[in-house]
Amino acid sequence: MRQPRILIFSGSVRAGSHNSKLAALVGKHLALADAEVTRISLKDYPMPIYDGDLEAQDGVPQNARKLKRLMQESDGIFIACPEYNAGITPLLKNTIDWVSRIKDPGEEPMAAFRSPLFAIGAASPGAFGGMRGLIGVRTILEVGLGANVLPQMIVVARAAQGFDSKGDLTDERAAGQLETLVRSLLRQTRFQMSL
Ligand SMILES: Cc1cc2nc3c(=O)[nH]c(=O)nc-3n(C[C@H](O)[C@H](O)[C@H](O)COP(=O)(O)O)c2cc1C
Repeated sequence: MRQPRILIFSGSVRAGSHNSKLAALVGKHLALADAEVTRISLKDYPMPIYDGDLEAQDGVPQNARKLKRLMQESDGIFIACPEYNAGITPLLKNTIDWVSRIKDPGEEPMAAFRSPLFAIGAASPGAFGGMRGLIGVRTILEVGLGANVLPQMIVVARAAQGFDSKGDLTDERAAGQLETLVRSLLRQTRFQMSL
């Protein structure tokens, strides 16, 4: 059987993003476990802020279509989700909203969210590590889009000190969460692929 294909991205595109570091680290661990990892930056998939008039006039942006294709080619998707005011970042929400608008012929609605297994995590300089924002992300994915999201998550609190010079985690608890998340994501995707 082929190895699971895992797509990875971060809800932040700023230079030095803690969440992009987390995305890179999850990608490294998945690759070490033989997964086929594709890590992208949403910077390469710019989209205007969703506006129904814009959609009616110009349709869904090509970048949303490209991202949807990548998502559908994946067995699993890990998203590192920064927390803004206890919620999801506008970049991540806007990206998800555009992709959710695409319904290709013969597909169920929100198809790109229905087949891959999702895993989520967060990193924040704060003491909660973005945990509160993850609740919102989970609600959007599970309730809004019918996605299957792993219960296991990773949270990197005090993220400014959370990564060493090699990009590895400095906190043992977070390192344990990383190990559990990677193991669960691979086990579940392999199980789904075997069906
Ligand atoms: C508008 C805004 C709201 C924020 N709200 C929160 C918050 O509710 N909780 C939190 O832990 N950090 C909050 N932060 C701080 C972010 O966690 C911090 O900027 C973090 O570095 C963003 O992720 P990144 O490093 O991946 O870009 C907020 C930052 C911004 C810009």
